Amino acid sequence: MNDNLHQLRCFGCGARIRGAEAQPDFRCAACGELFEVEYPGWEQRKGPDRPNAGALKWLWRERRCSSEAVDHSGVWRFRELLPILESFGNAVTLREGNTPLYPLTRNARALGMDQLFAKHQGMNPTGSFKDTGMTAALSVAKERGFEWVACASTGNTSAAMAAYAARAGLRSLVLIPEGKIAWGKLSQAMDYGAVTCQLNTDFDGCLRLLTEIVRQSPIYLLNSVNPYRLEGQKTPAIEIAEAFDWMVPDHVIVPGGNLGNSSALGKGFKEMHELGLIARMPRISVIQAEGANPLSRFFRAHRGAAFEPVEAHTRATAIRIGNPASWRKAARVIEETGGWCLDVTEAEIAIAKAEIGAEGLGCEPASAVTLAGLKKLRANGRVAASESTVLVLTGHTLKDADYTIDFHRGTLLNDQEKSGREAEIEKLRRNAVVVDATPAAVLSALKEQAG
Ligand code: F0G
Repeated sequence: MNDNLHQLRCFGCGARIRGAEAQPDFRCAACGELFEVEYPGWEQRKGPDRPNAGALKWLWRERRCSSEAVDHSGVWRFRELLPILESFGNAVTLREGNTPLYPLTRNARALGMDQLFAKHQGMNPTGSFKDTGMTAALSVAKERGFEWVACASTGNTSAAMAAYAARAGLRSLVLIPEGKIAWGKLSQAMDYGAVTCQLNTDFDGCLRLLTEIVRQSPIYLLNSVNPYRLEGQKTPAIEIAEAFDWMVPDHVIVPGGNLGNSSALGKGFKEMHELGLIARMPRISVIQAEGANPLSRFFRAHRGAAFEPVEAHTRATAIRIGNPASWRKAARVIEETGGWCLDVTEAEIAIAKAEIGAEGLGCEPASAVTLAGLKKLRANGRVAASESTVLVLTGHTLKDADYTIDFHRGTLLNDQEKSGREAEIEKLRRNAVVVDATPAAVLSALKEQAG
């Protein structure tokens, strides 16, 4: 690890330590808070010595045409902004990042907005945004000589970790809540050879248990409490800025679970701003599911109220998290950028997911909270028609095919959840019908559904 160029700073008490001195659970020994990676050299380079923004932008674009694996990666192509490795030759990469930014034309029209985009992080190698963080933190684990890595997960972190560990020749241990993760994700952990334990508890329980385990054994913890994860996960912010020709959109909307991703994107935009790569920060908003909404409750409560974990329930299993580790970091990002935090219902998530699907993109349920949240923000007048907005779609639609099929079959939501939204839901449903193997039967089915 490159301890000369970076250090870890406690988010609570501000204590600074070298990377190698971090506790196995990545908590501050003095105050128990999380750390974030800091690059002291950047302070000294303020003024005439700051990095040449124009040269970096040119270099990053050029690297896309290189045949080197690290240059092809949408994380390591920006390596000047994450100097965390001793040698970038040690980077374990699956060519993550460089994900597409799609216009959401029909949804924009429905919302009366001029510019609405989806940054589709589901287009990463294992189908979720976790790959960008995993390439960073797993490469650190490899440089530090660990043989085992581990994570607690609602599914995507474990899929990404298992894949990157396998590429690096490391062994991986996955702790997941039994029966509460999508099959696609579980199958990935198995496919990539992880030791997978399904525990009779929720995500928060899995993470608590794993924290105890890593204190007892030399296993490297790869949850987003690991600050190197966030260094990789900040790079989509750079890609968004690059795609907007370094003008940045007005508003970026992210789903909130353990709240690592919103913290990472905020850090990415903030560092670019400090280094003079962009002139301003976008507003960053975080959307949670109504049944897993501790941060949204915190923002709704009066100032100075304590943060209260909740017992989480939602079919968007990726964000079924009641006690998010990075809530302080995410809260600061929202406050500093003037964003919002709110929650959306199960029906709102399902409808938004179908609407993203109908644009030919698709995403997993947790990602769809972004569109559901934007609709609310538009309805209550907080977002203007002219504001350019990017929704961060965090996972691929195939991650949780059961959810999609249940929605289109009409079995996903109960009457109470659907109440008042029945017509909207019926309009979006496209159930697969069983018909006779004759042209007449197929044409009649076509007539029925098209009508
Ligand atoms: N969207 C998807 C698809 C996710 O898998 C997650 C988190 C989130 C959003 C929320 O991101 O936790 O950084 O706020 N999934 C984790 C996992 C917890 O274990 O895969 P966050």
